[in-house]
Amino acid sequence: MYDALQAPLIAQRRASTAVLDWYDRHRRVLPWRALPGRPADPYVVWLSEIMLQQTTVAAVKPYFTGFLARWPTVGLLADAPVDEVMRQWAGLGYYSRARNLHACAKMIAADLNGAFPDSEAGLLALPGIGPYTAAAIAAIAFGRRAVVVDGNVERVIARFFAIAEPLPAAKPAIRERAGELTPSERPGDFAQAMMDLGATICTPRQPACAICPLLTGCESRAAGSPEDFPRKRKKPPKPLRRGAAFYVRREDGAVLVRTRAPKGLLGGMVEIPGTAWEAEFDPERAAMQAPIEAPYRKLGAEVEHVFTHFALRLEIYVAEVGQGQEAPAGCRWAAARDLADEALPSVMRKVVEAARRSGGPAKPT
Ligand code: ADE
Repeated sequence: MYDALQAPLIAQRRASTAVLDWYDRHRRVLPWRALPGRPADPYVVWLSEIMLQQTTVAAVKPYFTGFLARWPTVGLLADAPVDEVMRQWAGLGYYSRARNLHACAKMIAADLNGAFPDSEAGLLALPGIGPYTAAAIAAIAFGRRAVVVDGNVERVIARFFAIAEPLPAAKPAIRERAGELTPSERPGDFAQAMMDLGATICTPRQPACAICPLLTGCESRAAGSPEDFPRKRKKPPKPLRRGAAFYVRREDGAVLVRTRAPKGLLGGMVEIPGTAWEAEFDPERAAMQAPIEAPYRKLGAEVEHVFTHFALRLEIYVAEVGQGQEAPAGCRWAAARDLADEALPSVMRKVVEAARRSGGPAKPT
């Protein structure tokens, strides 16, 4: 029987079925995805979802395969020293994820008999697992009907329903609408289908509407302007911080490094020593803060890096010192061949690259 109250439910059902049918034909092959019809491994799903937070699929792939090859189970990851986990993570960014990943593995091994909780509430109680990740794991690994909304899904939903309110205020409305479309059968496939749609068809620019399974019923397409959604509040430009880094090379090629404090930005990662990073950086006084007195040469080009809350510009000073030079308190020498294995974040890899490209430091006088 058909009545007006049922019409929206029928439309929702048709949309979710179209999305799942499309997924069966066009799903992306990704290293963390179970093959069709096969059960997903919660460890694999969890590891991939933590890595995919704020990070692209392309960037995650090699890290995911590296981690899984080295630590094939959550128990083995729990037994690894945290420094090794940080080293394996180096370059992927948002390093508190690596620390939480390890803490979470330890908790699962020690308190939960090696088994992941199978509900959103249980998952949410673990380190590093927020509402999005709990929903994604519950749906993908345990078949729970959870509403999974990442940036790609946000775009698909905002367009399908032509949600006019700008982000981030529109988030609750988008979530509610996503909940209406989420089916109770195959919720994990539905979540990943929506992600794939956002990544391959409902792209930020020039969406491929002609081949979209959600073409029928897409309100923004009907209005002729899918690219206008989601609307976004203009973000203020990121503030700029500046600083200096001192690349000191010993005669045998070893480089002076230090480990950052465990908490805060790049917590526990390794860095080339330098000044604080500040908006009010004074270049005149930078050289006075060098870790070792030496004949420094300042590079012509600065290193730039963008963090979540600020952009950074670093001046680079380079020097070479004799073999007998001791590392000052808080610093150590990293052998040249070991530098690539240090837990150097991307910004510090750029510093090392810039110093090496510059043809090396001035000879000591
Ligand atoms: N982004 C976050 N989780 C994802 C997944 N499971 N597949 C593809 N992209 C994702």
